[in-house]
Amino acid sequence: MPKVEIHGYAIVSDNDCIADASGRTPDVLRNDADWAYFQAELNKSAVTVLGRLGHEANPNPKGRLRMVLSSSSPGLERRPDGWWWNPETLPWNHAIRTILPDGGCVAVPGGRRVFDLFLAIGYDAFHLTRAEGTFIPDGVPVFSDCQEGVSAEAILAKHGLKPEARRILDPTGPVSLTIWRNGRQDS
Ligand SMILES: NC(=O)c1ccc[n+]([C@@H]2O[C@H](COP(=O)([O-])OP(=O)(O)OC[C@H]3O[C@@H](n4cnc5c(N)ncnc54)[C@H](OP(=O)(O)O)[C@@H]3O)[C@@H](O)[C@H]2O)c1
Repeated sequence: MPKVEIHGYAIVSDNDCIADASGRTPDVLRNDADWAYFQAELNKSAVTVLGRLGHEANPNPKGRLRMVLSSSSPGLERRPDGWWWNPETLPWNHAIRTILPDGGCVAVPGGRRVFDLFLAIGYDAFHLTRAEGTFIPDGVPVFSDCQEGVSAEAILAKHGLKPEARRILDPTGPVSLTIWRNGRQDS
C-alpha cells in the first residue's frame, strides 16, 4: 500500500487548550510565526483533515484539498468544498486510499475529536506549538483526556511518540514548537 504519513498540528495554551469556552480561537493562540510554520507545512501536504466546525470557520483561499469529518456524511462523499468523511461508517484506510491512491502527507489540524481519533489511527508526527505563559479558562483541550488532568505531552508519549528538541518560533511569550515523532521512525 502506498505510504501515507499523518502529521497533527496544534497551538495550545499552558493548560493544553486549543479554543476558549465558546469554542473559538482566542487571540492568545494567534501567532504569526506559528501561522507561517503551519502554512508551510500545509503546502507540503496532500490533504488537510479537519472537523466540520474548523472547516466552516476557516476559509480555504488557496483551494487546498480538504477532508472534512462530519456525521452528516454517509461514508465518504465528494462535495464542492472537499471530501466529507464519517469515520463511524467507513474506516480510515478505505477513505484515505480513495483520496490519496498514491499516498502522501496528511495534515491534521483538529479540533479535539479529530485529534482524539488520530491518536487511535496513529500519528507519524505531532507538531505541538505552545503559547507559553497563557491560560484559557474552561477552554477546549487538544485531547479529551486533558480534561482528566493529563498533559498533552503525557498523552503523546503514551501513544508511542517521542519529543525532538524544543525550538522557539517566536521569542515573545515565547511561542515554542516541539515535534513529537513516532518511535518507529527512529529505528
Ligand atoms: N489551536 C489549535 O491548534 C486549533 C486546532 C483546531 C481547532 N481549533 C479551533 O477550535 C475550534 C473548533 O474545534 P472543535 O473541536 O470545537 O470542532 P471541530 O473538530 O472543528 O468540528 C467538530 C465537528 O466535526 C465533526 N466531527 C469531529 N470528529 C468527528 C468524528 N469522529 N465523527 C464524525 N464527525 C466528527 C462533527 O461534525 P457534525 O456536527 O457535522 O457531525 C463535529 O461537530 C475552532 O475555533 C478552531 O479554530 C484550534
